[in-house]
Amino acid sequence: MAAIGVGRQRPVPTLLLLGLPAFAAAPPRFAVVTTVVSRPCDLAVDRICRAHHTQTKIAALAYKLGCQLSNVGYAGPKAILMHGVYAPSSMAMLAAQGWRVHNVTADLRALFPAGVPGRARPALQIPPRRAGVVQPRNDGWATLYKLYAWSLVEFELVLHTDLDVVFSASPEPAIRAALATRLVFQALPEEAYRGYHGLNTHIMLLRPNTDVFSLLMTNAVRGHFVPFTRTEQDVLETVFPPEVGEEWGANGTAVRAVPWPHHKHWGPDADKAICRRHAACCPAPNEQHDPSPAR
Ligand SMILES: *[C@@H]1O[C@H](CO)[C@@H](O)[C@H](O)[C@H]1NC(C)=O
Ligand SMILES: *[C@@H]1O[C@H](CO)[C@@H](O)[C@H](O)[C@H]1NC(C)=O
Repeated sequence: MAAIGVGRQRPVPTLLLLGLPAFAAAPPRFAVVTTVVSRPCDLAVDRICRAHHTQTKIAALAYKLGCQLSNVGYAGPKAILMHGVYAPSSMAMLAAQGWRVHNVTADLRALFPAGVPGRARPALQIPPRRAGVVQPRNDGWATLYKLYAWSLVEFELVLHTDLDVVFSASPEPAIRAALATRLVFQALPEEAYRGYHGLNTHIMLLRPNTDVFSLLMTNAVRGHFVPFTRTEQDVLETVFPPEVGEEWGANGTAVRAVPWPHHKHWGPDADKAICRRHAACCPAPNEQHDPSPAR
């Protein structure tokens, strides 16, 4: 650094050059991330799809998440894993809210045929523990884009949330606690009808890592997971217990969970619940001229 100005007629302003990196606040190396997938609907098997997964509706939900986050006091980085084509006005709406968009448009449908009736199972697929409880949904490929959160290595830690979540507290304390405790992964434990301990992945804390990303995608593609919901959740719960940290087993105790931000996972009617809790977020700007009678 000191040699930069040597021999020049007019040295560059050294103070500025040296001062900026030392004193400008570095952006936080974490983010709240969500996944936005606009998918074609097959109404024969997926009746809620048309109302919830048009590019208008799904972009509006991302806007409402951004609005919720700012309502609960979260001002940190936000990133979207985005699949599909969206109206320029929707993209502008999300950019104005500070979302950084990662375009993960790739056709994963062919890669994740696990359990789709009439399609062969991938070679390595592990049989279900209880065949009768495997869910009949066939949109699992769309949830696989969540796995791209592990590819966002510009962030040290990510809190990934689905779009059907109502937040009533900032996720930042959970993120900072995860950073402080060297947490590697956390999701909610769920057993439901599986007959084994699985996860609910509507909210997750994770450390992006390209090797883990390769592992998860390969497991998904090759069917190396125990099927239950037939979504990315199966892939994750076959690999991860509810909490993974650096200090596993050192004294025979499990890693202690980081407290989650207060929130509720709503499901298909989340839009109404979000608008009840965060009325000022609704409607999203891109819905205001939407002629559909959905609201
Ligand atoms: C992402 O890339 C695809 C294919 O290159 C393109 O068709 C699509 O419009 C892009 N989507 C976004 C949100 O930028
Ligand atoms: C076990 O290790 C964890 C992590 O270092 C620590 O928080 C906990 O207090 C330890 N428990 C006991 C019983 O020593």
